Amino acid sequence: MNDKPVILTGLRANNDLHIGNYFGAVLPMVDSINRLDNYQFNLFVPDLHSFTTPIDHTKLKASVYDLVTNYIALGLPIDNSNVLVYRQSRIPAHSELTWILSCFTGFGEMRRMTQFKDKATTTNDVVGADLLARDHNLRNLIQIIAELGEDQRLQAEQTLRGFIHQNTLLGVDKASVGLFSYPILMAADILLYDAQYVPVGEDQTQHLEFTRDIAERFNSKFNQEIFVVPKPVRQQYKFFGSDQGLRIRDLANPKKKMSKSADSDKGVIFLSDSPERARKKIMSATTDSLGIINYDYEHQPGVTNLLEILKLFGGEPKDYINKTEYGSLKSRVAELVVDFLSNLHNKRLQITTEEIEHMLCESENQANEQAQSTLNKAKSVLGL
Ligand code: TYM
Repeated sequence: MNDKPVILTGLRANNDLHIGNYFGAVLPMVDSINRLDNYQFNLFVPDLHSFTTPIDHTKLKASVYDLVTNYIALGLPIDNSNVLVYRQSRIPAHSELTWILSCFTGFGEMRRMTQFKDKATTTNDVVGADLLARDHNLRNLIQIIAELGEDQRLQAEQTLRGFIHQNTLLGVDKASVGLFSYPILMAADILLYDAQYVPVGEDQTQHLEFTRDIAERFNSKFNQEIFVVPKPVRQQYKFFGSDQGLRIRDLANPKKKMSKSADSDKGVIFLSDSPERARKKIMSATTDSLGIINYDYEHQPGVTNLLEILKLFGGEPKDYINKTEYGSLKSRVAELVVDFLSNLHNKRLQITTEEIEHMLCESENQANEQAQSTLNKAKSVLGL
């Protein structure tokens, strides 16, 4: 058991962070650090998670440094002894506990994880160039079918439906085993440090529930409290001052969440976007033709998303509700985002590689000790 209760989160170093990542995970962490003295805070880099889907490995090391630079520029203090910042790959216990937990996890349990289903069937995410080429063929095919006479078109559409079905299955078949079992690694990340609170966005809720399940299962099998079970998810939201998980939507396609791996970056505000680029993305955000601003995700997802972003950046949604000018709402959101990004980019310039390396090195020694101690407890009841 650690001396202090632990709050822990991690963000993948794939692609750049976007504002959803910031509000969903980094800000609740930084706010808690500023608010609470008697906790330990682990903000780590889950670099072993980075290649569950294909990436360019020549860029991974730089992405990890870039991510830590963002952590600091976004408010992570570098001289607070309650804070640990470490790379998962430098703490071997993560991999070892993952194997152990995977032997106590049902295949069906993993198969039900929605992130696997989503990612495994997103062709460009999983199978890369191979299926992208097929996509290109698919587009040509759709064009040809559209030009056929009615009878032939119906028949061709049926064939195409079969093809798409098969293609989707192919996506699942080719997805890596790492992508399939990655929630187990995430559970190990959390359980090794006895973390009680884990600030994450709504898309990670299912993984948190799984972490609680596997911890309880393991403890009850061996009749000992080997792992600290993280608090129930609702209690976690409350702790971070909310009644539900956060889900910022894509500006261009507000039915979908803002995502690092979106097909197009038109609707994603990356933290590396120039203020002008971000302004353009906001001013061209998809809205609706109802002509009145209301908080209603079902019928006005675009406008509601803008209101949500406005609120998160400290603006006042009340000033815009029932108004008819979408443009002025967009301008205000853009103004706040531009200020935020300009500030962030200036802060980034002041952070040195030496500072980052020093911080990682110190934290990794301490994290290794804590993680190893939990792993040893698990190994001992396993008879290892
Ligand atoms: P990742 O890197 O995909 O996302 C990082 C964090 O950002 C949140 N997030 C969002 N929040 C609100 N709106 C959005 N549109 C949005 N998009 C992403 C995510 O919920 C997440 O909190 N598996 C994790 C990384 C991880 C982890 C862990 C987290 C690995 N081990 C242990 C916590 C504890 C992931 O892929 O997050």
